[in-house]
Amino acid sequence: MFARRTQWDLRPNALAAALAHRTRPWTDLTVSNPTAVGLDYPAAEIAAAWASLAALRYRPDPRGWLPAREAIANYYRERGVAVAPEQLILTASTSEGYAHLLRLLCDPGDRIHVPSPSYPLLDHLAALADVEIARYPLWYEQTWHCDLAALEQQLGERSRAILVIHPNNPTGSYCRTEEWQALSQMAARRRLALIVDEVFFDYVWDFAGVAPPMQAYCAPETAAPLVFVLNGFSKLCGLPQAKLAWIAVAGGDGAMRRSALEKLEIIADTFLSVGGAVQIGAAALLAAGATVRSQISARVASNLAVLDRALASLPPESATLVTRYAAEGGWSAVLRWPNVRSDEAWARMLLDRADVLLHPGHFYDFASESALVLSLLPDPSDFAAGVSRALALAGEL
Ligand SMILES: Cc1ncc(COP(=O)(O)O)c(C=O)c1O
Repeated sequence: MFARRTQWDLRPNALAAALAHRTRPWTDLTVSNPTAVGLDYPAAEIAAAWASLAALRYRPDPRGWLPAREAIANYYRERGVAVAPEQLILTASTSEGYAHLLRLLCDPGDRIHVPSPSYPLLDHLAALADVEIARYPLWYEQTWHCDLAALEQQLGERSRAILVIHPNNPTGSYCRTEEWQALSQMAARRRLALIVDEVFFDYVWDFAGVAPPMQAYCAPETAAPLVFVLNGFSKLCGLPQAKLAWIAVAGGDGAMRRSALEKLEIIADTFLSVGGAVQIGAAALLAAGATVRSQISARVASNLAVLDRALASLPPESATLVTRYAAEGGWSAVLRWPNVRSDEAWARMLLDRADVLLHPGHFYDFASESALVLSLLPDPSDFAAGVSRALALAGEL
């Protein structure tokens, strides 16, 4: 009756099953919904942006309403990046942007190359488009690095695109200039597209040593390869419910870029999925979103400082066993936990004995057995209490 691609294993994973049977409350250190962590949203501005009477009239435009695209072009301009409204295709979410790009670039059985570890939604997006995923490793030595040699070896006949997540989730690592140059040359040589997911781009903690290549790939006259940059209000403005995101088409030669935009326009026109009200309110929401973004950045910074202080005050014997992977941005932190049991067993133990929920690293394809991932968004007192209980357990080791 149903297609093979829908034959998912719908049983809850062990952690979800344990949560379903819990009676005691727990501290959720995995919450990634910015609207659920007590931030002070500029409610009046957001409501006004959504309430325009202009939304009563339907103005379909497959690329997205021009004033909304102009507002997004202006966001880039403020950062010194030249992106014309004509280079933008609006989507309902970054995930939908991925889906459009997979339809644009891949036939069934073609392959895209994605970083590992990274966030899990990519598997579903690719499977729904009958596209295969090959993972190229990121390796860790003081910071995360892209294994360019392993990636090059994976590339083959069916390869269509390389995905760069800038910064990656949950490792929080930005693509470095020299990595960008190597990736860009590799893609150009093989006529592959580069997809650059920048949803966490503005959540930078520390720029030292990181020179984001925005400028290079967004400039309209950049030489090959063709580059598709994804971003959206979900993370940029802390407004996942707004359902407004975009694909910026850059790089390539003029003809290739025009052709990509024409084809994307037809894909977008098939769905016309972006709501009218949010497009009309886009400029006002971007302005209101800047306030939310700075609150999120402040929250992430203060929770990170709490976490680092708690790690620094661990007794010496546990301090070497529990450490944080270095990162440069994003909304998450990754801890390396003692390798005496699996990440899943640690997550269960932390839930059962410390009443705190962290994600096992294998949810994000961490090769290390003992990585645990936590969100830096939770309410500060919940966060401090949860971290303190979790690390107290580590202290008992
Ligand atoms: C790196 C990354 N890209 C994209 C998304 C999806 O964003 P959207 O809400 O716009 O679909 C997520 C969601 O967590 C993410 O972590």
